[in-house]
Amino acid sequence: MSSNREQFGSRLGFILAAAGSAVGIGNLVGFPVNAAKNGGGAFLLIYAICVIVLCLPVMMAELSLGRHTRKDPMGAYKSIAGNSPWQIAGWLALITPFMIAVFYAVITVWLLGYLVNAAIGNLDQLASPDTFGTFINSNSIFVYFLAVAAIIFLILANGVKDGIEKAAKVLMPTLFLFLIGLVIFVLTLDNAWSGVGYYMIPDFSKINGAVISGALSQAFFSLSLGMGILITYGSYMDKKEDLPGATKMVALCDTGVAFAAGLMILPAVFSFNPDIKPEELSDSSVSLIFSFLPKIFLALQGTLGYAGASVVATLFFALVFFAAITSLVSIIEVPTASLIDAKGYSRKKALLVLGIGMGILAIASALSFGKIGFLTELTHYAGAKRSLFDLIIDTFYDTILPLNGLLICLFVSYRWRKTQLNAEIESGNENYKGTFLERYVNFSVGTFIPVILFLIFINTVAIKYFGSSLISL
Ligand code: PHE
Repeated sequence: MSSNREQFGSRLGFILAAAGSAVGIGNLVGFPVNAAKNGGGAFLLIYAICVIVLCLPVMMAELSLGRHTRKDPMGAYKSIAGNSPWQIAGWLALITPFMIAVFYAVITVWLLGYLVNAAIGNLDQLASPDTFGTFINSNSIFVYFLAVAAIIFLILANGVKDGIEKAAKVLMPTLFLFLIGLVIFVLTLDNAWSGVGYYMIPDFSKINGAVISGALSQAFFSLSLGMGILITYGSYMDKKEDLPGATKMVALCDTGVAFAAGLMILPAVFSFNPDIKPEELSDSSVSLIFSFLPKIFLALQGTLGYAGASVVATLFFALVFFAAITSLVSIIEVPTASLIDAKGYSRKKALLVLGIGMGILAIASALSFGKIGFLTELTHYAGAKRSLFDLIIDTFYDTILPLNGLLICLFVSYRWRKTQLNAEIESGNENYKGTFLERYVNFSVGTFIPVILFLIFINTVAIKYFGSSLISL
């Protein structure tokens, strides 16, 4: 199989596709709000340290494991460790992207709904307080759901080079352009610079253990780690490719977009409401995107007119929608590759089988916002009722992601072995041998990175399911 495995056509294509995976809702909305609330410039600094010190080595480990085995995550674990308990890690690396795709798909469907409505002149409705609740429980979401499924199918059915890479080459540059355009525009608004102040001026008094662990989780999710995505994309990477160089480019691109997003979102918020305190911003990206920002866009009609405000809103929703689509494509590619590798399915068959499974779960989670009582109050833990959507986010996004990261570090260091890791990275970059980076990656992946991920994992379990923090962060 490995000899005819598809590959990305070019270095740029790989970087754009991997950056397309990394740049998502987490960067565009989650990051700016986290930064403004948690110490501005101080948070930015800690985030950058987390990316360089903790995430880069894990990225390189995932990519090289994929490139070496030329397999999906489950196949990668199996081809090195055979039928050992490591297979459990392989299963987790398959189920996690499947389930994260479910909740991410729901948000992407809503984004498309808001994009279409902003574009056809319904911005005033989007800005009214009850719209979000009504919209997510309306039947129109089924139409948007079908549209998103069709877009994803069209991209993935065309394979790695003509599907994933081509889509990334169109969507990512468009996204960069929209983002730059919106940043420039937003910075010209009244009071914009007080938002920039909250974003950039460091306040080290806000930094504590919880903020540091939050920054790491944000960076981990943002770089698409622990989801098997980089193992899968690594398996499509050319052996002659400079792996450390490409990794750095992807991390830089992802962090650059997150940083620029802060220069778009925060000035817009402060220009709309100069007296707002960052603490008052909602914690959830969902309520910020769908409830708060439409009001800001509508308020622009004072200066731009209704049509102008609608154009800005449309550009914003298109930007987030494109980011979400390229992320969704990457995460659905993981179980797709598994079905192709393990079962010998054709790409289309794999996509259809997965589409049905994910579609059912995604619709069930979309209905767990009040429309179906049983799904809305599916379970109860840590003192609150939880819907199917909450359960999926708590389990897979918050809890299992760091666990997967931990397992990959242990696997690469103690089962696959560092000599093999180094040999794989050196292929395509001979200068890597003997560098500080090589020694650093070897040491960190086998020691403190898994320890930190383990602490985050047990602390999340304690907080999420038992309602108390184990480690006083
Ligand atoms: N990096 C993505 C983001 O920031 C996370 C993600 C990747 C989510 C792929 C789903 C699929 O939103």
